[in-house]
Amino acid sequence: MSAEKQIQWYPGHMAKTKRLMKESLPLVDAVCEILDARIPVSCRNPDLSEIAAGKPRIILLNKSDLADPAVTAGFVKLFRQQGMTAVEINAKTKMGINRFFEAVNTALSKKIEQNRKKGINKSLKLMVAGIPNVGKSTFINAIADKKAKVEDRPGVTRENRWFAAQNNLMLMDTPGVLWPKFDDESVAKKLAYTGAVKDTVLDTEEIAYYLLEELIKLYPRFLFERYKVNPNEFENAYDYLCAVGKKRGMLISGGEIDTKRTSNMLLDEFRGGIIGRISLDRI
Ligand code: G4P
Repeated sequence: MSAEKQIQWYPGHMAKTKRLMKESLPLVDAVCEILDARIPVSCRNPDLSEIAAGKPRIILLNKSDLADPAVTAGFVKLFRQQGMTAVEINAKTKMGINRFFEAVNTALSKKIEQNRKKGINKSLKLMVAGIPNVGKSTFINAIADKKAKVEDRPGVTRENRWFAAQNNLMLMDTPGVLWPKFDDESVAKKLAYTGAVKDTVLDTEEIAYYLLEELIKLYPRFLFERYKVNPNEFENAYDYLCAVGKKRGMLISGGEIDTKRTSNMLLDEFRGGIIGRISLDRI
């Protein structure tokens, strides 16, 4: 992908966000890192280890309803082996939220014990971090204590807002952070497939083509079942895309295949989980 696109993907405010998150870190007890379960490696912000150094980290594999369950289970195990607390959730339906509360108690057991000994009932404070569109707001909404008044707490900036949540938690929302640049082209592409990078800065036909290449390799059966066109019968992803367009009757005047519309349809169906439960990262 071109350097120009890389620059567009890292607007200046994201550099500022990184600095502000670092400054806000002393205000929280732990960092809750929300990942997209479909791309739990590619959507991790490498800066976060540095930003959150010294604080317990709770990993939430969100959108697990869209991801391949076997792959997600493998990642949960891997993160746990690496000493982090990891839970798969679906922030939209609140699946896994109780396990999240348990994970907080595990990750912050020392702090909870200290508070108990001192006889204080202080809220546990978590910073919620993750790339744009990963489901931070949905998650915060899912556990927000709607009855509680949001306290006026120091947050360094107005952007880092606090939310009172169930189980005596306070959540600090942070704007999504991305990378200064995408060294690995496959990471950049996966962020585009899942919608972490806005389609307006991308060529959707190019993205759909690369996505199809991945799906033909990883999940050919899902494609066949959904589009009734066998990917094994085509030389390349472009020919397959055209065949799907034809099958769906996506034509422009003159009988040519409307590849733009077909591409948009494929991206929408992938993002909506209609093609199947798909994970694009592997351990
Ligand atoms: P952000 O704050 O990190 O930027 O993300 P946000 O919560 O706005 O969520 C981005 C999109 O992801 C939203 O869809 C949201 O509904 C969806 N989402 C969040 N968590 C989950 C999940 O666990 N599973 C699934 N399937 N989707 C999830 P949207 O299309 O922008 O909005 P809407 O159509 O849902 O209203």
